[in-house]
Amino acid sequence: MKSDELLHGFARAFGAARPTHRVRAPGRVNLIGEHVDYNDLPVLPMALQLATQVLAAPREDATVRIANAQERYPPREFALTTTLEPSPAGDWVNYAKAAAQLLAREYGATRGADLFVASDLPPAAGLASSSALVVAFALALCAANRLAPDPLGFAERLAAAERFVGTHSGGMDQAIALCARAGHACRIEFAPLRVEALPVPAGWRFVVAHSTVEAHKAAGAREHYNARRADCEGALAQLLASPELSGAPRSYRGLLEHLGAERLAWIAERNLSGRLLARARHQFSEFARVARARRCLIAADLEGFGAVLDESHASLRDDFEVSCAQLDALVEAARASGAVGARLTGAGFGGCIVALAQASDAERLLEGLRERFYARLPSREREFALVAEPGAGAQVSAL
Ligand code: GLA
Repeated sequence: MKSDELLHGFARAFGAARPTHRVRAPGRVNLIGEHVDYNDLPVLPMALQLATQVLAAPREDATVRIANAQERYPPREFALTTTLEPSPAGDWVNYAKAAAQLLAREYGATRGADLFVASDLPPAAGLASSSALVVAFALALCAANRLAPDPLGFAERLAAAERFVGTHSGGMDQAIALCARAGHACRIEFAPLRVEALPVPAGWRFVVAHSTVEAHKAAGAREHYNARRADCEGALAQLLASPELSGAPRSYRGLLEHLGAERLAWIAERNLSGRLLARARHQFSEFARVARARRCLIAADLEGFGAVLDESHASLRDDFEVSCAQLDALVEAARASGAVGARLTGAGFGGCIVALAQASDAERLLEGLRERFYARLPSREREFALVAEPGAGAQVSAL
């Protein structure tokens, strides 16, 4: 949304108050490392140029008022305190409350603000629109309270704070929103958070396309997501009880760093079965794929990176069971249209895919998705496919 439209929206919502700051927090597309961040395993996302923007006017009191350019998100208000009650699941005010509670609790924030939000990120699409919203609210409240926390520590705390909405997410989305660098993808390590920016080769294009199935992380998809985390914990507990692993590290990351993905997969085959075996297998294979993908990115090995994407999709579909028929069909359509590899991205259960192509094939890929996928749907209402440019991290500017 353009600056003057944002200013008009702010004036319509809040009357005479003048915004003093503008915040921009990007969404992201995760390239590889899916459903592993909550086990502290590395991931490799890049920020999008699509973002959530907030105009902020500090207030003298502790009231936080929020309004949104989109009518589906009604105005809300609450008082900034250290203990906030969540509103019913799915209400967008919970994202503001998550940020406000963190700021009050850990950074001593006492001033509220009038906050006007506009976003060009599609919601429930696996592009981290929720985290972009939380990060944007948090930075706006920082500006209102003259706080400038260090990005890494802030990203870690925000990840924990966002669990206020009820999803037990990992830390990828907040970290990339705050720490991304334009033109780069980022390999992110957790506990402690570390970010390595890796240039995206000039001849590569990542296409992001929506399956048109919405996956609401704060509502329906939440239970599936939390169930996957619980499965991972169950698999780890069983695995650690096996004689081969007595005295071994007690976490996925410790085990993987100590024994390697192949050896662990072999031990898992002997000690686990059914669903838990499959969930563990995804953790191990995806960990190995993140390492391979990093090497391919550095060596500009397009085909190699494409193969990693394809393998990740198969693992997410068969072992982690977070795909759906539309995502599988869209991935197939991408491959048939010239992508060197494609997979679902984000939490899954709907949302987007990411496909990799040579720059010269990107238009053909988009055209192929239109013909092979979108044109066959009963409605083209949620059609969304674009070439994703690796964007910068969140920014705050004084007005
Ligand atoms: C959501 C969560 C992330 C991550 C992905 C799956 O986007 O917010 O922390 O777990 O799902 O990789």
